[in-house]
Amino acid sequence: MTKSYRVAILGATGAVGTELLELLESRKFPLADLKLLASPRSAGRTMRFGGEDLPVEAVGDRSFDSVDLVLASAGGSTSKAFAPKAVAAGAVVIDNSSAFRLDPQVPLVVPEVNPQAAAAHRGIIANPNCTTILMTVAVWPLHQVRGVQRLIAATYQSASGAGARAMEEVKNQAQAILQGETPETEIFPYPLAFNLFPHNSPLNQLGYCEEEMKMVNETRKIFGAPQLRITATCVRVPVLRAHSEAINLEFEQPLSVDEAREILSQAPGVRVVEDWEANYFPMPIEATGRDEVLVGRIRQDISHPCGLELWLCGDQIRKGAALNAVQVAELLIAKNLLQPATVAVSG
Ligand code: A2P
Repeated sequence: MTKSYRVAILGATGAVGTELLELLESRKFPLADLKLLASPRSAGRTMRFGGEDLPVEAVGDRSFDSVDLVLASAGGSTSKAFAPKAVAAGAVVIDNSSAFRLDPQVPLVVPEVNPQAAAAHRGIIANPNCTTILMTVAVWPLHQVRGVQRLIAATYQSASGAGARAMEEVKNQAQAILQGETPETEIFPYPLAFNLFPHNSPLNQLGYCEEEMKMVNETRKIFGAPQLRITATCVRVPVLRAHSEAINLEFEQPLSVDEAREILSQAPGVRVVEDWEANYFPMPIEATGRDEVLVGRIRQDISHPCGLELWLCGDQIRKGAALNAVQVAELLIAKNLLQPATVAVSG
């Protein structure tokens, strides 16, 4: 028996949308129909899928009639406007924006960490922030064994987190600088090429930016640990794609480096990358295009007997966004939480 689903990608023309298209094809997602939605700017464009040119439509109030599943990655305001309409039309929405992530009615799901949370959905499931997804995939297996008491993260975030146009902006800035010209800024507030700056999301009264608070609040929700002590410093770096993170963990009881490495080498979605003699560890260029979170430099924290340091890199567009959303969709199908459009009896 084959079940297949009518899927819409909202934000199909963006960096994450393009990756969603690739993943639906490469993972052979059971599609009955695929609808590509974006802003009116993109209406009339076509995008390649399965050897065909599919039209891109401007999203509208009726876009979700006859759609079973919406994969949304078109920003928070677009999701706020259209996700409720999609749900009212009978679709399930997996939303990559921050619009619903902390809503207690909306599950926030990383399939390697809290797949069970998806079952409680009421039409919308939120995909966590990219840095949070990458970090939770690596930290959860350790947390389960020893219990993380305190987590300190520093991120090195690529341009891709700000979308396809931001990636172009960094390339153009690099070219301009190499030609002795002044780099132009449009998406980012400052030149990113040959530079870095603290994440430019809005700051709260405590001096934390929104991106940092996403890591704090979303990790607590995903782990089901509202009291988890966690702090972060988020920095944008001139890397095109794939984020890196330095993570310091303090456990209830000591966890040896060997034990941590063993746990991580068995953990779903994680690949341990370490060659201490060659000083070779995860790098964003090697994480790019890969599904796994690369983890290395696992070492004892010399400042604390229960502390551990590690370094990770993960493809922000893939596991940090599109892949996680597709995995959630696959999880819904596996658990019978998504109504199929068609059920064909094979043979
Ligand atoms: P468009 O290409 O028509 O602007 P990225 O994160 O790479 O910048 O991509 C953002 C995605 O969200 C794009 O597909 C973009 O479409 C889409 N998008 C942005 N604003 C809207 C909107 N108001 N309505 C629908 N789609 C939008």
